[in-house]
Amino acid sequence: MQDRYNEIIEIIRKANYEYYTLDNPTLTDQEYDRYMQELLKIEKDHPELMRDDSPSVRVGGKIIDSFNKVNHEIPMLSLSNVFNEADIVAFDERVRKEFPNPIYVCELKIDGLSVSLKYEKGKLVRAATRGDGVTGEDITHNAITVKTIPLTLNENIDIEVRGEIYMSKKSFNKLNEFRKKTGQSLFANPRNAAAGSIRQLDSSIAAERDLDCIIYHLPNPLDYNIEYHFDSLEYMKNLGLNVNIKANRRVNGLHELLDFINEWTEKRDTLPYEIDGIVIKLDSIRGQQKLGYTAKYPKWATAYKFPAAKVLTKLKEIKLTVGRTGQVTPNAILEPVRLMGSVISKATLHNEDYIKLKDIREGDIVSIIKAGDVIPRVENVEVSRRVGTEVPFVMSKTCPICGSTLKKTDSAYYCVNDKCDKVKIESLIHYVSRDAMNIDGFGDAIVEDFYNMGYLKNIPDFYKLENYKEELMELEGFGAKSINGLIDSINESKNVSLERLLFALGIRHVGAKTGKILAKHFKSLDNLMKASNEELVNIKDIGKTIADSVYKYFRDEENISIINELKEIGINTNYLGKEEIQNENITGKTFVLTGSLEKLTRDEASLIIENNGGKVSSSVSKKTDVVVVGANAGSKLTKAKELGITIWTEQEFIDLVGDLDEK
Ligand code: IVH
Repeated sequence: MQDRYNEIIEIIRKANYEYYTLDNPTLTDQEYDRYMQELLKIEKDHPELMRDDSPSVRVGGKIIDSFNKVNHEIPMLSLSNVFNEADIVAFDERVRKEFPNPIYVCELKIDGLSVSLKYEKGKLVRAATRGDGVTGEDITHNAITVKTIPLTLNENIDIEVRGEIYMSKKSFNKLNEFRKKTGQSLFANPRNAAAGSIRQLDSSIAAERDLDCIIYHLPNPLDYNIEYHFDSLEYMKNLGLNVNIKANRRVNGLHELLDFINEWTEKRDTLPYEIDGIVIKLDSIRGQQKLGYTAKYPKWATAYKFPAAKVLTKLKEIKLTVGRTGQVTPNAILEPVRLMGSVISKATLHNEDYIKLKDIREGDIVSIIKAGDVIPRVENVEVSRRVGTEVPFVMSKTCPICGSTLKKTDSAYYCVNDKCDKVKIESLIHYVSRDAMNIDGFGDAIVEDFYNMGYLKNIPDFYKLENYKEELMELEGFGAKSINGLIDSINESKNVSLERLLFALGIRHVGAKTGKILAKHFKSLDNLMKASNEELVNIKDIGKTIADSVYKYFRDEENISIINELKEIGINTNYLGKEEIQNENITGKTFVLTGSLEKLTRDEASLIIENNGGKVSSSVSKKTDVVVVGANAGSKLTKAKELGITIWTEQEFIDLVGDLDEK
């Protein structure tokens, strides 16, 4: 009986290893179950035969009173983080100083919690958490329920190995679904779920939770005559441990290293578990010794963290800003956080309804996401983290700049005081902006200063600045050269085509695209001003809201007087048809923009495409001709690659469209 018992344990051990670690099952489920039943029967009938490493322990049931402390003879260190290519280059340079021509091993950074496993004579004797790195907690009772932790190794050796305990995405979803159905609180992510499961006194909980373990570190490889980290991975794999040998890779030089990172940035969603980055380790153990350690980290390794698409931070204040249309928008002033490679300290809150719907309060811990990859917005409140001092939002009834009463239209509030300083400043800033009159040299601050000093009160004043040339040159920070430059750009703007002027005037609901439709249709400002409401509505792509707004704008006396003044100054008010440029790279093609562009805004890129007779679409399909990718592009890029669609970088796009000012 003893022999049969030992034989079954070996069969099940081998089957587990083949199934869980090699991903190559050799027994059918039925066969496996039959062996397991036979094993349980023998253990029931002959309890004296029961072995500590019997696979039956995996079902859990052991309850401990408290966690014993474990001292790590070799401290369990964490890793330093890097966030971008420049950081990686700097890491590589630091390594090269001590160890020229390094070979690195790149590994997936599994998002779980680290564990130390100690085997004596090939048997698992202890599993411990990292704790503070020096003292951890004994979690052996829970570790033995983890199917991918072998209870027995292929060799009867003494060894300590380290790795990560984690929960697969599938188990995590199953667990949360169950918790939702039974009214229990949900785990925020698989890492929290894994950590919550491993720190349980009753091991049947960990057994149910279906955890896994991947091994990535041998603390003392030289003791096993191993000189290279990658060899230690292979060694541990051969012992029967679950090592990510297929994904991990030796790389030679920065180029291969960055390839690995890019590859897994793209592929990470296809993994059955979550990874939060890539670990880069110097392969040579002698090299590792040469580089050494700081108090917290090895200097021979680092972790590249994927840009988070979502982060938590504190909302310090809700501040109202006034735009050129007078719209008063609430913004979140945040404790600065890093999100997708940049530091965010402000995010949009859209409007009062949005804040009320989500019950966002000053002082809340909130999650921030990048909407459409670019503009950060507050997504949710971490209600569980409220301390009671948070202040609910009350929308101001008055303009934060001029104090006049705000008017509510749909869900937005407007300052309707046409003398409101901020509204005026913002509309002047808009007038000179790139997609509007494109008057070079006017930063927002200069417009604001000139406004405050009385040189600029309304649009025609731009063209009168010439009269104050001498005075302006005397201003601090300005000289003859900059003022002459400004005046030249102002004069150049007199000749731009009508669509720009229409956009620049700031007629509500008339964006750059509508400006173009109107200019093309009416050919001159005079024709447009004479148009009836009906005529406007009948134009393709012009709806009632735009038509009403345009019609009203040209019936307002003050607007008419501004236009008359501009005409007197000699501003062109005709459609020049300049945007009918044919560009073989763009005309007739459909583009998708993805990732964050650096040199152009999305609106600018879209405008260039449209002005050159191309189309911009938001999703990638077979009909897409070109996908323009910025930094951190995600699923759209993957799809484009799958469909074999032409991919341009932002720089390629800029090069191929030619002179940007032609747009
Ligand atoms: S190596 C001295 N390799 O990431 C070596 N760590 O942020 C230390 N982690 O504490 C660890 N995957 O819990 C290493 N392939 C991997 C890893 C990995 C996940 C975790 C580990 C570590 C943390 C550092």
